[in-house]
Amino acid sequence: MTELKRVVVAGGTGLVGRHLAEALARDGVEVRLLSRRAGAGFSWDDLPRALEGADAVVNLAGEGIAGKRWTAARKEAILRSRVEATGRIVAALAALPSPPPVLVNASAVGFYGPMDGRPVYEDRGPGKGFLAKVCRKWEAGADAAPPGIRVVRLRLGVVLARDGGALPKMALPVRLFQGTRLGGGQQGISWIHVDDLVRLIREAITNPAYAGAVNATAPRPVTNETFTRALARRLRRPLLPVPAPVTRAALGILLGDMGREMLLEGAFVYPRRALELGFSFRYEKVEDALADLL
Ligand SMILES: NC(=O)c1ccc[n+]([C@@H]2O[C@H](COP(=O)([O-])OP(=O)(O)OC[C@H]3O[C@@H](n4cnc5c(N)ncnc54)[C@H](OP(=O)(O)O)[C@@H]3O)[C@@H](O)[C@H]2O)c1
Repeated sequence: MTELKRVVVAGGTGLVGRHLAEALARDGVEVRLLSRRAGAGFSWDDLPRALEGADAVVNLAGEGIAGKRWTAARKEAILRSRVEATGRIVAALAALPSPPPVLVNASAVGFYGPMDGRPVYEDRGPGKGFLAKVCRKWEAGADAAPPGIRVVRLRLGVVLARDGGALPKMALPVRLFQGTRLGGGQQGISWIHVDDLVRLIREAITNPAYAGAVNATAPRPVTNETFTRALARRLRRPLLPVPAPVTRAALGILLGDMGREMLLEGAFVYPRRALELGFSFRYEKVEDALADLL
């Protein structure tokens, strides 16, 4: 692709979008945010105009997944927001005479569902559970883009950043001397430093070899226990030796399915495709990412 001039970022007011938009703007790229918020950028009704003359669309839009209990209504909103946003983008692309040539659509490592310790690569099919179902439908929506548009389905791991997402929430109990591994602590955490994610998204936009599923995770996923220990070392705090059944029961009661799928289950997801395509991560080890962010 020639020089990147204009990029549409749907859901660009969120954690990843803010970092991406900042990095693009720093390099003189015009960023068109697509947002439900008045005054934050283009409205969804203005989608065709936002897409006009753009070099790429990055779709990050969707209701927040973590944090709140997954009631039936919440699950419906999580799924519907993603399927609808992706559907609207794809329909708008199909209606344009000369649409942007690439759609980079977010998905998540939740696609694979809970897995044991075996490494997970892009060729693995969808797993079980609610998150896997959401990701499957989300990705199918992106794949419905008209032929000729390159679609990259980025399966994001847990995005580590200073200013939002999981890390501040995970660091807080540790800071308050309440840190502990969750459950047995052997579940995988496939993470990525937000700076590497932004670089990977840009690479996915500009490098025509990127297409289909691409895991957006650091090359060294870790267990929950390793992650928690690294966090404690970085923050110079001890950890509490809470027995596995106690955290399991507490998370189940407090957070229900959300706590189970997001915190007690996991997978070791590797960025095979990105590495094959020559992407080099700045933060390969969780210790290095935490040293930078905390
Ligand atoms: N952060 C992570 O660790 C992580 C991990 C795996 C996957 N992901 C996925 O990657 C994407 C970006 O992550 P993020 O952390 O930047 O998410 P985020 O901070 O929650 O931002 C997502 C954005 O989506 C928009 N949005 C929310 N509800 C919507 C709805 N009903 N319809 C249309 N747009 C809606 C919001 O923008 P407006 O309010 O401006 O409309 C929001 O700023 C998300 O879809 C997320 O699920 C994130």
